[in-house]
Amino acid sequence: MVKSKAWDWNNLNHETRRELWLEPSIESYYLVNRWKTQKKKSFLDLGCGIGRHTIQFAKAGFKTTAVDLSVEALRQTKEWADEENLFINVKYADMLDLPFANNCFDCILCRNVISHTDTQGIMKIIDKIYDMLKADGECFLTLGSKNASTFNDPKNEYIDENTRARMDEGPERGIPHFYADMDIIPELFKNFEIIDLYQTQEFHKDENGNYISFWHYNLLIKKI
Ligand SMILES: C[S@@+](CC[C@H](N)C(=O)[O-])C[C@H]1O[C@@H](n2cnc3c(N)ncnc32)[C@H](O)[C@@H]1O
Repeated sequence: MVKSKAWDWNNLNHETRRELWLEPSIESYYLVNRWKTQKKKSFLDLGCGIGRHTIQFAKAGFKTTAVDLSVEALRQTKEWADEENLFINVKYADMLDLPFANNCFDCILCRNVISHTDTQGIMKIIDKIYDMLKADGECFLTLGSKNASTFNDPKNEYIDENTRARMDEGPERGIPHFYADMDIIPELFKNFEIIDLYQTQEFHKDENGNYISFWHYNLLIKKI
């Protein structure tokens, strides 16, 4: 298994500039509503980054835990929570070695996080998500897709058949990325009910105003 590596939040480029990470993602509003309706209470923001979903869920009344491997990300998340007078549990931890007991969260969000490992790592973290969720607990997560140009870009380092390390400048430099396809997804999530599964192509403008695209699989899964 490759060694985990946090994002370097002090080395943002145009593609990953800070303001892009401050506004909650579109589906997070749906998840807040869904999980409130289901009376879920304990929420884990796994790989919280600089806290956009941690703050959103804490404000909505969830008992919120935020985890990241970046000290800088956690510092910014905590600072934001303090400004908003929100109590959150902030934990420095590697997703491949999480310090949480079984059956301790009702719901988990890991958006653009768990693909930051190789095939062995992804299997380990998915098992841990299963263990940490309570019965009927749900998790929304995203996985990189093999449709992404970075998967076949020869500049990026080959790690295993599904994994490449990004070699472009910016906070992800040297970080392994696992890329999924529909051959591997049913196998990875065989212990869960897959409630929703869709692939997205997101477009961001680069520094020259040209659109660049990012492919992801999006999954809403439930522990059965
Ligand atoms: C693309 S950012 C997404 C942040 C957040 N989920 C969001 O949507 O705003 C990925 C985050 O995952 C964290 N991360 C990467 N590998 C990790 C690991 N092994 N354990 C915990 N966090 C990790 C990075 O440090 C970074 O903050």
